[in-house]
Amino acid sequence: MKQAVDRLTERLNGLAPQLALVLGSGLGGLVNDVDDAVRISYSELPGFPQSGVTGHAGEIVAGRLSGTPVLMLAGRAHYYEHGDPAAMRPALETLWGIGITQLILTNAAGSLREDMPPGSVMLIEDHINFSGANPLIGEGSDRRFVGMSEAYDAGLRTSLQKAAQKTGTQLHKGVYMWFSGPTFETPAEIRMARTLGADAVGMSTVPEVILSRYLGLRVAACSVITNLGAGMNAGELSHQETKDMAPIGGQRLATILGQLCADGLPAG
Ligand code: HPA
Repeated sequence: MKQAVDRLTERLNGLAPQLALVLGSGLGGLVNDVDDAVRISYSELPGFPQSGVTGHAGEIVAGRLSGTPVLMLAGRAHYYEHGDPAAMRPALETLWGIGITQLILTNAAGSLREDMPPGSVMLIEDHINFSGANPLIGEGSDRRFVGMSEAYDAGLRTSLQKAAQKTGTQLHKGVYMWFSGPTFETPAEIRMARTLGADAVGMSTVPEVILSRYLGLRVAACSVITNLGAGMNAGELSHQETKDMAPIGGQRLATILGQLCADGLPAG
């Protein structure tokens, strides 16, 4: 990790962001809003994932978003790629190592609510880990027993809601349920997820939230809704649909994040 921290610090050339954003499938367009952008390929940073998922670029873009220093991770590793739920651990440890204190994760997700159609943005308030995996399995010390009652930072959530309000952008709230993927859910699984209290389903984010809490990073997460869950309307789901639809909600999310940065980050 030290190598990656040193390399990244050198490339940032004095920029000291406190906020990092992880961009989900089809949401890479957010990097275009970064001023004075420095781009650093993951291949330059030991331990960073070499993602093979189309729609995930695999680079850091750092600079200013509405004047606030930020660092964006365009591309993440997913559990379904190699079966490693801790695949993002070296990257997140490196962010922690360069002084990042706040993290906003984004993802593309399927909606379980008719009143939250494709193009919507949902602030994740809590999650259900339905994957059976956990990035801290095998961790040796008692630090592994991380409390998850307030996993999604209250201050960051309030700031995101205020930014949404200020820009007149609708921001739904709900529970995200993590399925391992890479297959989409069955209609029966979607009915189960609804019954269990989930509002959206997806294949990422939860392991990164767990790792963030382990590292002591304040974390928030937003889903961009690309489709209704399997069986909620006719037709088969596809990754192409995810990539095609993500930029629609992605625009809304970009507006919210731009305002958040213009307003300044919550203290701490
Ligand atoms: N299920 C799981 N992951 C997803 C979906 C979905 O319906 N849409 C986008 N990512």
